[in-house]
Amino acid sequence: MEGEFETPAVVIDLAVALRNIERAQAHLAAQGLAVRPHIKTHKLARLAEAQIAAGAVGITCQKIGEVEALLDEAPSIADVLLTYPILGRSKLARLVALARRVRLSVVADSRAVVDGLSDGFAGEPSPLRVLVECDTGGSRCGVQSPGDAAALARHIDAAPGLVFGGLMTYPAAGRQAAASAFLAEAKAAIEGAGLAVPVVSSGGTPDLWRMRADGVVTEYRPGTYIYNDRSLLARDVATQADCALRVVATVVSKPTPERAIIDAGTKVLTSDLLGLEGYGMVMGLPEVVIDQLSEEHGRLTSKHAIPLEVGDKVEIIPNHACVVTNMMDAVQVRMPNDTLEVWHVTARGRVT
Ligand SMILES: Cc1ncc(COP(=O)(O)O)c(C=O)c1O
Repeated sequence: MEGEFETPAVVIDLAVALRNIERAQAHLAAQGLAVRPHIKTHKLARLAEAQIAAGAVGITCQKIGEVEALLDEAPSIADVLLTYPILGRSKLARLVALARRVRLSVVADSRAVVDGLSDGFAGEPSPLRVLVECDTGGSRCGVQSPGDAAALARHIDAAPGLVFGGLMTYPAAGRQAAASAFLAEAKAAIEGAGLAVPVVSSGGTPDLWRMRADGVVTEYRPGTYIYNDRSLLARDVATQADCALRVVATVVSKPTPERAIIDAGTKVLTSDLLGLEGYGMVMGLPEVVIDQLSEEHGRLTSKHAIPLEVGDKVEIIPNHACVVTNMMDAVQVRMPNDTLEVWHVTARGRVT
């Protein structure tokens, strides 16, 4: 790769990413599940379009800014689920503008959020779909019981400008069965109150390949599956060959035989450890640990002499691909014909 681009660089192998898209789509479709990929992993209009072309019913975004940026560049996006509680007059105005451009659904886990959404949408010609977010074990956002889910569904149903859109959860890894049990109980309670539950949405790459039709979940939101990363290698749900995103860095110093310094620090690899030892996997050098990062320096150490010299390049599978995506304005994309293209990262930095 020498001479092809400056480092540090984020390099995407498009053939691998496209294969990951196809495999997940086929697996989930075989289970009768709609696929709604989470684009926070790549933030690229062209990959969102590839996911839709492969059969996704729409995309998932975390932030309004991601939706705005992607819609501007990806005309095939027609259906978006925004899995974040939206609050405040300014964001509600942006949400209303988006709902005029695309089939939009959002989530809520409190009356405060629902009431704000209702204020924003009461005068709109079409109601906004609002799904109740359920905490099924992930211990992040979400109502705490199926009964609370039913109560909030009724509140949404009664709110001007809104329509109850179903249930959404982001379960803890390995807890899909518990999530389905919670969701089944909530669904029964809501249907018992006379409301339909059109969508039950779950997600997460750790359980993607174990996901089976369970009669409750109707759609699945995988995100990291498109690139995979070291955290998923550690969970045994991907192989190195499935990792489409690599950080390429240059050895800029080798102060001792057992220590080499690369030009990628926290501002590329990020400080996410996700429970792992070191800040990434150096390809081809399993004994080398990236044991310390400062902003622009990464320290490689080993018990033995490291077979790298100043000027050598290394490829790294980062611990967490999704955060690396947000660090660079552009990525180098290795096309299936082995040429390189530079793609600007459509929704980079769009965190509001
Ligand atoms: C709400 C929501 N849905 C889906 C996903 C996708 O999860 P994964 O990246 O494990 O596929 C995430 C990841 O953060 C998420 O927050």
